[in-house]
Amino acid sequence: MVPAAGRGERLGPGAPKALRELGGVPILVHAVRALLGARSVRTVVVAAPADGVPGVRALLDEHGLPGQLGKDVRVVAGGETRQESVRLALAALPEETEVVLVHDAARPLVPVEVIEAVAGAVAAGSDAVVPAVPLADTVKQVEPAARPGGPEPVVGTPERARLRAVQTPQGFRHRLLVDVHAKALAAEGTSDEAPVTDDAGLVERFGGRVVVVPGHEEAFKVTRPLDLVLAEAVLARRRAVDGF
Ligand code: C5P
Repeated sequence: MVPAAGRGERLGPGAPKALRELGGVPILVHAVRALLGARSVRTVVVAAPADGVPGVRALLDEHGLPGQLGKDVRVVAGGETRQESVRLALAALPEETEVVLVHDAARPLVPVEVIEAVAGAVAAGSDAVVPAVPLADTVKQVEPAARPGGPEPVVGTPERARLRAVQTPQGFRHRLLVDVHAKALAAEGTSDEAPVTDDAGLVERFGGRVVVVPGHEEAFKVTRPLDLVLAEAVLARRRAVDGF
């Protein structure tokens, strides 16, 4: 499934992030195509902005996506938060689904090998699988500044070799993902813990083992304006190499 209901304000003004174009094709269409290109994927559920369901449906139809290779593409209304969008998309999955991949619309260039590696690891018995890459930068933990705009005190430096930057698609046993989303909904507002920013984080918080498989540098998230420049360059190189 593809949560695509975010506004993507960090990219700057303009169309919602998922509808921005890369090489003349909306980012969301790239992401859905990448999933449909994986042999193990049968159904794709897109969570669109609540007022954008017909528009997203039309966009996918326009790019000839539904029915591709006999696969099913559904569009549902997303929610206020990424977590709510995923929960609403989960409700639209076929009951008999065993493995669910959650893929950010904002990662349009994820290579098919990453999708298959994640799906394969869940099929082979893991409950929750995330693709991840080592960090180039050292990471510091900080505390809020003593006064607004002042310097933030550093309180720690985690060992870089043991840190990973996590990408998507993240893969789960269907029942486990439904279960942790239900628990998260029930626990909403009852805890002062930091909000969970990915689905694997819900599994960690509400019970379950998460493992990592190698991610890929091209599975980066298009977040800031410079990411669009990088994505255009990756796409141009792919088109030159495979004529795709
Ligand atoms: O904001 P961020 O880049 O972390 O969003 C990650 C993904 O979650 C994006 O694909 C975005 O469209 C999606 N999202 C969503 N519903 C929201 C907020 C974000 O589906 N309410």
